[in-house]
Order: sequence, then structure tokens, then C-alpha cells
Amino acid sequence: MTEPQAPALDLTEFRRLAHDAVELVADYLAGIRDTPVFRPMTEEQRRHLSEKRLGDEGTDPVVLIDDFKNNILPYAMGNGHPRFFGWVNSPPAPIGIVAELLAAAQDPSCDVGDIASLYLESTVVRWLGELVDYPEQAMGLLVSGGSMATLTGLAAARQWLAETDGWDVRADGVAGAPGGRPLIYLTGESHSSVRKALELLGLGHGAMRTVPTDAAMRMDVARLRAMVADDRAAGHRPFCVVATAGTTDTGAVDPFDAIADVCAEDGLWLHVDGAYGAVGALHPELRDVYAGLARADSLTLDPHKWLSVPVECGCILVRDRDLLHRTFTVVPPYLFLEEGKGIGGPPSYAEFGFQQTRGFRALKLWMTLAHAGRQALRDLVVRHVSLARELAALIDAAPDFELAAPVQLSVVCFRYLGDGSVTGSALDELNRAVEVLVQSDGRTFLTSTVLDKRFVLRASVLHHSTTAEDLRALLEVVREFGAKVSAEGVSEVSLPAAAFH
Ligand SMILES: Cc1ncc(COP(=O)(O)O)c(C=O)c1O
Repeated sequence: MTEPQAPALDLTEFRRLAHDAVELVADYLAGIRDTPVFRPMTEEQRRHLSEKRLGDEGTDPVVLIDDFKNNILPYAMGNGHPRFFGWVNSPPAPIGIVAELLAAAQDPSCDVGDIASLYLESTVVRWLGELVDYPEQAMGLLVSGGSMATLTGLAAARQWLAETDGWDVRADGVAGAPGGRPLIYLTGESHSSVRKALELLGLGHGAMRTVPTDAAMRMDVARLRAMVADDRAAGHRPFCVVATAGTTDTGAVDPFDAIADVCAEDGLWLHVDGAYGAVGALHPELRDVYAGLARADSLTLDPHKWLSVPVECGCILVRDRDLLHRTFTVVPPYLFLEEGKGIGGPPSYAEFGFQQTRGFRALKLWMTLAHAGRQALRDLVVRHVSLARELAALIDAAPDFELAAPVQLSVVCFRYLGDGSVTGSALDELNRAVEVLVQSDGRTFLTSTVLDKRFVLRASVLHHSTTAEDLRALLEVVREFGAKVSAEGVSEVSLPAAAFH
């Protein structure tokens, strides 16, 4: 018999390796501006990663770090770069990177017990609520991201519906629902995670009623009111409105106060998806825009979006703590710890959400927020909104570009027009080709969406180090490729092939 070998590093080696890793990360962060925003991989590099085999013998950690440095680190999504304007992804705050190491060192499961991480989680969740003036008595917990937060909030909404109508959704599922079909109201701009949540909760995406929007893509509240009344008259069971604080496509902020009035009058649950833009409420000029946010019954926030907390870090707040508890509580004997006795700590987080073993997300959130302080967070939001407005002004002033939607937060949708001779679907194709060329080029990065059936380019400003010069560079690169595609023709221009077709 051989002696058992723990798969552990000798601590001297650990120190050396960890120091080397810190140097590597610091060099990476220091030099990121001089690297391509996105760098396509070669076929050989893809195979090197996807066809790795686990050997019988272990590998020297120095070799592993080297492999990371050469074959993984350079091929990132690009969100660490100040010229990355894609999707809704901020760079990681450096202190958040440090926190990831520290959290992993302790590696608690943040569900039960008299352990530090649980007290810290209750604090940072309270801080998030305070940032957007959400009621103090709310219960909240950290989850993987916005999608899981919305699933959790809508699970609470479904529990509330069942209790209100006198059925037991936990025992009988939605089959137990009496009367008409439960319906939920949102706009065409709502995030796809709402649909996924409804499907998982057994309500089905057929429960979605799409409320029209105004010119700024905000929910039309008069239409909401009329649709709810019509559906009720037709025997359905309207029960929930999902409003958005910062839609993914354009950053539209729904009129919460007016929506909350409808919810109060009609007895509907109000969920606000603030994954991207709830923290826009920190902007002093946008106070009126966010009025009524605090009236939501549940609120999704996503610190890994605008607040630069490293992925994954989402948060759900639910006004009625006991209801959230009734939505999820199950305590098997092996998890029971008597509250107030022995190692029993605060009520278990596993009784307020789906996960049992939970990562120590609170540490990176705490360190990122506490290091910045409230004023710097406010400044970050103000700066990004100003930069987005500046980009919109540059676009407005350029005859070869057009703005495709009003700018409300830090997202700008626009199109390259060239000399104006290309229109209709050909203009869509031109802009689509421009997007592909810009993304593979590496000097800057943006993504796209479809608004009102028109393909548009989309740039979101979420990086702490982005400057006005970076915005000008973005437009220059788009213009360069726009001119190239216009000159050569969409069908003639050579577009880089994707790794997977
Ligand atoms: C408005 C909105 N809600 C929800 C989500 C989903 O969040 P996550 O990707 O963290 O699950 C996103 C993602 O971009 C979003 O923009």
C-alpha cells in the first residue's frame, strides 16, 4: 500500500506560484490597452484546449500557469479592455480579482451556520438595496446573475399568486391553479431570461403578454391597464408585471410609478429587472426617471454588470421576506441547526433560494463596493452616461451615421449609412458585415441587435477606463469597415469564418 497523497501543493510552492500568478495578472492588467480587444484563436489552439486528456500522473503547476498564460489568457471575451463596447459586460474591478482568491481560500458554503460570510452577505445585499433606495426590510440574496435573480423573483411571484388564490403551488404545481390562465405583462424589450423563468416555473411563455412601448421603448402604461382589463374580462388571471430598469438593447427605463399604480389598483405583483440599469438610479439627474422603483415587490440587480464585480454576482431583493421563505424553505434533518444555539447562525440562505451549497460571492461584492465608496460608484454611473451621450452626439453630427434609439443610460444603438445610397435590407446586411469585421479586427469591439426589424450596431459603455478618445476610435473603425464593405459589396467582402458554423 502506498501512502495516501493529498492533491495539495506544498505551501512553499503555493507561495511562489501564487506570487507568480499575481505578477502575471498585474502585467496583464497593466498592458491590456496595448493588446487586441479580441483575438481569434487558431485551429491548433482550439484543439489544444478542447482535446486535453487527464493524465495518470499530475502536471507541474508551473506548466499549468504557463499554459494559462500562453493559451488561455490572451483569448478572452475582451470585456477587460477599455475599447470593448459589447453586450452588458464590465471589466473586473482589480480588488474583485483579489477577493476571488481570498474567498476561494476560505471556500465556505454560504448557506448555514454561524459563519462570517453569511453576515457579510446580509450587509452587502442591504447596501445594494440602499444604493437604489429599496425598502430596508426586504430580504435579498446573491445568486449567479440576472437570470437566476429573475427566476427567484418570479418564483416568489408565483407563490404569492397561489397563496392569494388559495392553491398550493409547492404541492400541486401549476396544475392546482383554479380559474383562468395566470398572465404576466412585459414589453418586447424585456430580457429573454423572463421567458426562460416562466418556462421553468411551469407557467409557460404563452403566459407573456407583450405591452406596446412608446417612442423611447418604455412600457405604455395606458395599454397595460387596458390589456389587463381585457384579459380579466376574458376570464384570464393577470398576476404580474415585469418592468425593466435599463433594457438590454437600448437602456430604456420603464415608468415604474405609473406601472406600480396599475399593480396596486389591480392587485398585481411588480417585478423590476434592474440587472443592467438599476444602479442608474445613482445618477442625480435621473431621479425622476427611476421614481417608483422602490415600489417593486421584487427587484433583480446584477453587480457583475455595471458595478464591475467579477462574474458571477447577481442579486434578488424581495420585499416580503416571509413570502420568499415560504417559496423555498425545505430543511432536511442533516441541515437542521437550531437558531440561537451552538453553531446555528442566521436563517439559512438555502431556505430563501434554490441553491444549497453557495459560493462566497459576498466577499468580492463587499470589497468592490467598500473600496469604491458611494461617491465613486455614483461618479462611475454619471461618467458612463455622459460618455454614451457624447457618443450619441458624435453620431448625430456625422452624416454617415444615424442614431437608432434615444440614449437613456450607457447604451448607444446606431447604424452606418455611408453616402446614403444603400437602404432597406441591404443596409442591414452592410451593418451586419461591419459588425463581423470590427469584432475580429481587435482594435475595438461592439455588438448588435434588431430594433423595429432593423439591424443596428450597439455599443455599451461599462468600462471604468474608457475615454472620449476611445469613442472616437470606435466610430473611426466602424467607418473604415463601412467604407470597405460599401466599396467592395457585402457579397464580395471577405468576412472571417467563425470557429463553429
Ligand atoms: C436587462 C437584463 N436582464 C437580465 C439579464 C441576464 O443577466 P445574466 O446574464 O447575469 O444572467 C441581462 C443580461 O444582459 C440583462 O441585460
